[in-house]
Formats: sequence, C-alpha cells, structure tokens
Amino acid sequence: MTAILAIDQGTSGTKAIVVDDEEGTVAIAEETIRPRYLPGGGVEQDPQELLDSVLDAGRRAVQEAGRPIDCVALANQGETVLAWDPATGAPLTQAIVWQDRRAEGICAELADHATDLARRTGLVLDPYFSAPKMAWLRRNLTRDGVVTTTDTWLVHRLTGEFVTDATTASRSLLLDLDSAAWDPGLADLFGLGAERLPRIAACDEIVGTTRAFGPRIPVAGLVVDQQAALVAEGCLEPGTAKCTYGTGAFLLANTGLNPVRSSAGLTTSVAWQAAGQTPYCVDGQVYTVASAVRWLQDLGLLGAATDLDALVAADAEGVLCVPAFAGLAAPWWAPQATASFTGMTLATRREHLVLAVLQGIAAQVAALGALVAGDLGRPLTRLRADGGLTHSAALMQAQADIAQIPVDIYPYAHATPLGAAALARCALDPALTLKDAVGDWRPTTVHEPRWSADRAEEFRTTWAQAATARAAKGDHS
Ligand code: G3P
Repeated sequence: MTAILAIDQGTSGTKAIVVDDEEGTVAIAEETIRPRYLPGGGVEQDPQELLDSVLDAGRRAVQEAGRPIDCVALANQGETVLAWDPATGAPLTQAIVWQDRRAEGICAELADHATDLARRTGLVLDPYFSAPKMAWLRRNLTRDGVVTTTDTWLVHRLTGEFVTDATTASRSLLLDLDSAAWDPGLADLFGLGAERLPRIAACDEIVGTTRAFGPRIPVAGLVVDQQAALVAEGCLEPGTAKCTYGTGAFLLANTGLNPVRSSAGLTTSVAWQAAGQTPYCVDGQVYTVASAVRWLQDLGLLGAATDLDALVAADAEGVLCVPAFAGLAAPWWAPQATASFTGMTLATRREHLVLAVLQGIAAQVAALGALVAGDLGRPLTRLRADGGLTHSAALMQAQADIAQIPVDIYPYAHATPLGAAALARCALDPALTLKDAVGDWRPTTVHEPRWSADRAEEFRTTWAQAATARAAKGDHS
C-alpha cells in the first residue's frame, strides 16, 4: 500500500489530499489564498502565505489520513514568480502571480523577437509567462537572490534542493521546447543571462526528501497544475483534451511526442516528462473564471459561488459578456483588453448578467476548442471538464450548448493533486505505467448540447466579434 500526500498550490488556495492506491482519496484539507489585485494590472500573493498554506494543508491532510505517508507530490501555478535568498530561503519579494500584467512593457520592447520566441519555446510573448515577470521583478523590485517560479522556492523550503520540473520550465519562455533544456540565448534576451536557473527534473523523479510532514519522505511528482489535471483526466493519448475551470479556465490537448507549433495562436508546452519520454500539449487560456465569479460576488450580484445555478436566468435576454477582466489570452493575446457587457436594457437583471458571464466563459473555451482542433487536425468530439466551477450545471450546460460537444464531468473535485500523485507513484515504482497509475474514471454527469447547431454558431460568431473588438481596443476603453 502506497500513500501519497499530493499538494495543489493554486492561485486561490492550496489543496492537500492523501491518496492511497487501495482506498483512493482518504483525506482532504484546504487553505484559501486571496491574491491582491493592484491598480495597473498587478496581482500579488504573500510567499509566506503560500508556504504556510502548503504546510498547514499538508499537515492537516496527513493527520486526517492517520497513516504513514510514502511521498509528497506538488503541483504549482506554472508562471508565478518571486525572488528569494538561496542562503536562508527567505522571500525577497511578493510572489508576482501569472495574472499580473505589469511586464507588458518588457514584452513590447521585445516585440521584434516574438516570432523567434514562438518558434523556439512554443509560447507567445506575453506577460502571462514567467520570464517577462522575472525580468520585470529584476528591474523594479530587487536584484538580490535568485528569481524563480514558486515551485522551486517551495521545494527548496521543503528539501533544500534547487529544482523545477520540465512542465513548469516550459511555461517560462526560457526553455528550448524541442530539447526541453534551458536556452541561454533566451535568458540573455530577457536580461536574465546572469541568473542561476534551477535544475530541470522529470515529473516522475524524486527530487529530494522532506521532514515537513512527519518522518523523512521523498518529494516527487513536480508538475504544473494544468498538466497534472490533464494526466488525472487520462488525456494520455494524442487528441484527447480537458478543460479545468478554476481561477481561470485552461484547455489542454495532448499532441503526443510532437511539439507542434500552433498555427492558431495557442501555446505549446511539455505535457509531462516521465518514463524517459516528453509528450507535449497545446493549450488555450481564459484568464478569469472563478475570478470573474468572485468579481460578481464582490459587487454583491451573487452570494456564494454555489448559488450560481439558483440565481442564473434561463436566458440572458441579449446581454453579452466578454469576461476579459485580466486581459485576453489565446488567440488574441491582448493583455490590455478589458471586460465588457453589451445588450443591457432597463429590464436587465442581475440574473441576466450572471448568465452572460457564464456564457462568455463558455464561448471563450469553445473558441479555444475550435482552435485546438485546427492544430490537432481533427475536431474535438468531447471535452473532459474538472475544477471547482464544474459544480455549476449552468456553466457546464452553456459549455456543451455553445461548443456543441458533450462535456464529461470528472468525478472528483481534485484532478490536479490526483495527477501529481500519479506521477509521484511512478517515481516510487518505475515499473508502473502512467496509465496504470492514473486508472480509469467515468464521468459523474455528461452535459449534451441542447442548443441547435445554428443557434450555437450564431452565438459564437456574435461573441467572437465582441471579443475581437475588446482585443482591438486594448486599454483605455
Ligand atoms: O497558468 C495558471 C494556472 O495554471 C493556474 O491555475 O488552478 O491556480 O487557477 P489555478
């Protein structure tokens, strides 16, 4: 019997589960994190709060599980960075969150290199990725210590090692995608040539040991949260796709061992690195999903997020929302774009606004799904869905209606830590295949499209025009 403590250190919280290969998930503990949204597009987190949440959630889960733990796995946000002192482990800055747009100026300065960067890294030159944020931090906050993604810092605090994994490195704009190795020329380009970069580990590698959760145990299964969910949802074959509805929504499609460069403005990353192989995925992003719902709550338009379905109107009555509350990602790449509501009248009620937000999210995911299909060379026939907001049947039905494909709801509320746990299990038992470590699952619910194809197409067209207008207007509107 093997028990893994799998920790998902996310944007809005940290979730720790203990998963046992015989009994499944035997304990869950969560800590909420509130990022700070600053004027000018800044989004920050307190690194100490991140570390405390990892330790507190992890220890509570271990206590609840009441059994010996064999390994710790860690999924991370992907592109959130901070500077820290490698001698003491003390943070030197706040964590600059992936949603932070303050590195836009740095991206604008490097605009001439965008095509070359896309060819070398598979990514788009955008403040979303780690390197522009690392460069911004160096220019504006401190030149001391090391600057890394949060995983490297957290793992250092747990084990003393200086390491990241191939999926996280592939979200940086500093990784040569084909060889999955740091490209020193890219670091130079961002003014990061003198930085000490962490060793890149495979996702099924034991990277060190820790006593943070009890007796000393190995740490393995380092992976970006989105890729972890891809693994958990069993998207192990080329052409399979999932969307995780968390703080943002992230649609990832497995492209196998082919690091395709998207012809549609999507990005390509390492899907995982395990058993000596490096499969890739294309991905598209909706930056604000739970963040948009929280915005509705902050405005008093909605009580708890779980009230969504009780409140939402049956029809938006012409109200249309582009939920670009933190800019637009693929395929528009317009960090300055802002959200919009159109079509409101004096008859518009909050339930119409709430539905319009949900439909806007679903329309954006549907647009990404269509683009993914272009890169895969075949249409998506189903979408696997996980994440907190899959609890909203209204959102999931809107997704099926607008994308015109069935949406399979993942049965567990914690795909991300389960994916990290599967990779950690492979690290402990190299004879185990990832497929066997993941196991089979059946959707709890399948949302079939109810809209006609014509209605869906008309909606997608109208929404895409609105999104393109937001992207074109950029800031000041
Ligand atoms: O790219 C950012 C994304 O991976 C963050 O995921 O779950 O923290 O919203 P989450």
